[in-house]
Amino acid sequence: MRLGTENLTYIYMPGTPFATAALKGVTIDIEPGSFNALLGPSGSGKSTLIQHLNGLLKPTSGRVLVDGRPLGNDRAELLALRRQVGLVFQMPEQQFFAESVFDEIAFAPRNLGLNEEQVKERVQWSLELVGLEGKNLQKRSPFHLSSGQKRLVAIASVLALQPKVLILDEPTAGLDPGGRRHLFSLLSRLNRREKLTVLIVTHHPEDVAALADQCLVLSGGRLALAGTPEEVFSQGEELQRLGLALPPVTCLMNELNAQGAPVPGAVFSLEQARRAINNWFGRGEEP
Ligand SMILES: Nc1ncnc2c1ncn2[C@@H]1O[C@H](COP(=O)(O)OP(=O)(O)OP(=O)(O)O)[C@@H](O)[C@H]1O
Ligand SMILES: [Mg+2]
Repeated sequence: MRLGTENLTYIYMPGTPFATAALKGVTIDIEPGSFNALLGPSGSGKSTLIQHLNGLLKPTSGRVLVDGRPLGNDRAELLALRRQVGLVFQMPEQQFFAESVFDEIAFAPRNLGLNEEQVKERVQWSLELVGLEGKNLQKRSPFHLSSGQKRLVAIASVLALQPKVLILDEPTAGLDPGGRRHLFSLLSRLNRREKLTVLIVTHHPEDVAALADQCLVLSGGRLALAGTPEEVFSQGEELQRLGLALPPVTCLMNELNAQGAPVPGAVFSLEQARRAINNWFGRGEEP
């Protein structure tokens, strides 16, 4: 499934003194099966944009495109879109409501009208996908899990819809480094093995640099940059101007690259930097 927007503008509370133009003429294209990162400073419109992609918000002007066709207002069409585009909100565990992990994850499949046997299979399948199947969690309260487990249960509850596209709003917020690594390896697996299209909102370019096919950067409601991680993250000065912090090692390598040193820009780990610098000094390692 291909998703996109064309000249999308969205104004909160139009016609009032509080009117805020959160998106201004944004055009994006999310290819089927691709891994995408959406970056931008706080208030740049990231959450507003992703809520358009599953029909929760309607454009003030411009269009949302689903497989190249403009999304209409038809209720059945919107419901179909919401089944195919799973959205994991910021801090999703704050929206838990069920008494058990099972019921929390079963909510969406039950709503789809599946019978209890099929619902059980879906819950089991979703827990397996996020790596929680062997932990005997199904009867426990979702409120009494660790924050990393809560995040995975929230993701499982969206996966239970078996969506084609998975959109996550800052899914690593509040997780420790181990939790972040686990989550990124899960997202990478879902993208590569399950062929899920992934769009992730993040404030950490280094987390997505190695995974993403496309990086989109919003600034003040406009699409400021779009391209591969290399294309986007080598523009250190522009990113800084937009208020996005790159890791120190990336800034250093971008600076060396800009000064004409034969090293690549957009380097995110010390290990990559070490190899690039060794190559520069003729120590013959592959970059
Ligand atoms: N419900 C709302 N009512 C009015 N204005 C809103 C509402 N939600 C967001 N806005 C405004 O729209 C703009 C974009 O907000 P949005 O939440 O999309 O930003 P964001 O990029 O997701 O930020 P963050 O990184 O802090 O989550 C901001 O100026 C914000 O104040
Ligand atoms: Mg947000």
